Amino acid sequence: LDLETVLIKNLGRHSGQQITVEGWLYNRRSSGKIMFLIVRDGTGLLQGVVAKKEVGEEVFAKADQLTQESSLRLTGIVHEEPRSVGGYEMHVTNVEVIHIAQEYPITHKEHGVDFLAERRHLWIRTPRQTAILRVRSEIEHAFRDFFYQRDFVLADAPIITPAACEGTTTLFELDYHGEKAFLSQSGQLYSEANAMALGRIYCFGPTFRAEKSKTRRHLMEFWMIEAEMAFFDLEQNMRLQEDMVSYVVQRVLERCQNELKVLERDISKLENIKAPFPRISYTEAVEILNKAGEDFPWGEDFGAPHETIISSQFDRPVFVHRYPTAIKAFYMKPDPNDPKVVLGADLLAPEGYGEVIGGGQRIDDLALLEQRIAEHKLPVEAFEWYLDLRRYGSAPHSGFGLGLERTVAWICGLDHIRETIPFPRMLHKMYP
Ligand code: 4AD
Ligand code: MG
Repeated sequence: LDLETVLIKNLGRHSGQQITVEGWLYNRRSSGKIMFLIVRDGTGLLQGVVAKKEVGEEVFAKADQLTQESSLRLTGIVHEEPRSVGGYEMHVTNVEVIHIAQEYPITHKEHGVDFLAERRHLWIRTPRQTAILRVRSEIEHAFRDFFYQRDFVLADAPIITPAACEGTTTLFELDYHGEKAFLSQSGQLYSEANAMALGRIYCFGPTFRAEKSKTRRHLMEFWMIEAEMAFFDLEQNMRLQEDMVSYVVQRVLERCQNELKVLERDISKLENIKAPFPRISYTEAVEILNKAGEDFPWGEDFGAPHETIISSQFDRPVFVHRYPTAIKAFYMKPDPNDPKVVLGADLLAPEGYGEVIGGGQRIDDLALLEQRIAEHKLPVEAFEWYLDLRRYGSAPHSGFGLGLERTVAWICGLDHIRETIPFPRMLHKMYP
């Protein structure tokens, strides 16, 4: 007898065996002598069939008290049962009640999103939410594997920083023993230093932006995968990104079939996601907008509706490169052939999910970088260390940052970013 509990997602390996599953009651039906317990363990759902004559009066009576979300241990023999949720069924020989839950607020009826958001700590137990969080976990592993296989070093960036990376309007300020400090908006500047030390690196950590707008794409705290490569130019940078995104999507297709089914994701849309991805310039993107009837002047930044129009022309993610210098960050390298634009590229996801990656080639010339820091009215003292990278063995280099939650929203096909992270931090909302 194997006493180790089995995860519901692995039941296929134990068909015909007596096993134990630990979990929570998801639903229950009873018809006097026979009871159907649907149990969830975070990996899937299992229907247990409990017969009074099999388990005895006492156990049956106890099981009859199980309320939704009560914790329990089920022992019995599992077998394939295509008509049953999850494809397996357990012929129960014992039910061990661990805790009888109080009346559970999230029932099987529809609930409004505000009601659910207030109870996010419980909402994450529902099958749809666990499917999303499992896909998120697979995506994180896939990114790490991708970089590990390519000899990138994981070099973590600090969270507490003395200066802005992505503009001063979205900084979260904090008091660092009497000194002003900020939560990191991006690990990039540190990643550049790490790339000059280690060659090819990535970091993966939480980043923070005090976004003033409430949208379905913005969180105040989100996770970013950022890579930085010494001696890479813009084209090499884009090639790495398309390989990475294709790899991650294919991994999810391979390993998260059940989750994608729960989410009712149209898989054919994901099957297209293979490198190479199309590349268009910002100027070409503006032409697409104007042809679509948008009165969009060259020089402005795209909003979400613009990104949707542009990306809807393609069946896979599209790179938009060479944005106007004036609307991009201070560190972006101007195109030597046309300094009005920078050697940067954003990757726009299909199906209206918008920008998932921002990246580009960095300025490697000391004087130009000093000039940009001044133009952006950034405090040069805070950037002396960063300027050092252009003083000692400056090298062309490029990198990018991918927003994890936007990527999860796209791959899972969600309407809103709030479901992509266990505990979202949104405008005026941080409970629980
Ligand atoms: O385009 P961004 O601002 O680029 C950077 O931060 C660069 N320093 C990255 C780099 O080159 N190392 O942000 C990168 C990505 C966006 O494309 C988007 O996917 C995500 O981060 N992002 C957000 N995701 C959720 N909520 C927000 N408020 C986000 N802001 C950016
Ligand atoms: Mg961006």
